[in-house]
Amino acid sequence: MFITFEGGEGSGKSTAIKRLGEKLRSLGKKVVITREPGGTPISEEIRSVILDKANTGMDPWTEALLYAASRRQHVKEKIEPALQEGAIVISDRYVDSSLAYQGGARGLGVDKVLALNQFALDGVMPDLTIYFDLAPETGLGRIRKNEHREVNRLDLERLSFHEKVRASFLALKDMFPDRIKIIDANLDPDQVFQEIWNLVSVLL
Ligand code: TYD
Repeated sequence: MFITFEGGEGSGKSTAIKRLGEKLRSLGKKVVITREPGGTPISEEIRSVILDKANTGMDPWTEALLYAASRRQHVKEKIEPALQEGAIVISDRYVDSSLAYQGGARGLGVDKVLALNQFALDGVMPDLTIYFDLAPETGLGRIRKNEHREVNRLDLERLSFHEKVRASFLALKDMFPDRIKIIDANLDPDQVFQEIWNLVSVLL
């Protein structure tokens, strides 16, 4: 089973992922938690190029290709082998981030970015994608209060960019209604977790 989490900056998805992993392990399931961009040493190296605050001159297609390259390595080295071993794989972000950030918000086009990603995915699509929906100003406010969190190049985008990201995710839900489920990230963490658990239980 492959579950991905998506959501804007500061939406609380990392906390929820941790909790879901713990719950599944307590039930005796083998769980692999991973993230994008990253998840393998090569993918993490690509991540640092993409998110480097010095790389302000990065062309949007270069950015999309780097995310896809990072994803390809992640799929082949980590996700596919874990799924073959019967693990439940949980990824903090996956292809929908590329569709929303590069395809939608950057304006490259969701269809084109999806086509580009087909090379990377090799058919490995999530069984369930949970999108944490939150107004960008709320999420960015939460990040600024959290001194321990690194601020990366994409966090520094203008609010209008993050509004577009959100609109793109909501549009993706209409494109993939069976796979993508939306959670109101304003709810308190226990309620959020209860909703996640309802969705995951159905799959289990
Ligand atoms: P990260 O610090 O992991 O963000 P978060 O904690 O919000 O998940 O940084 C990843 C950034 O990269 C985030 O701003 C979203 C962006 N991103 C894309 O634009 N395209 C992608 O395909 C992926 C995976 C991430």
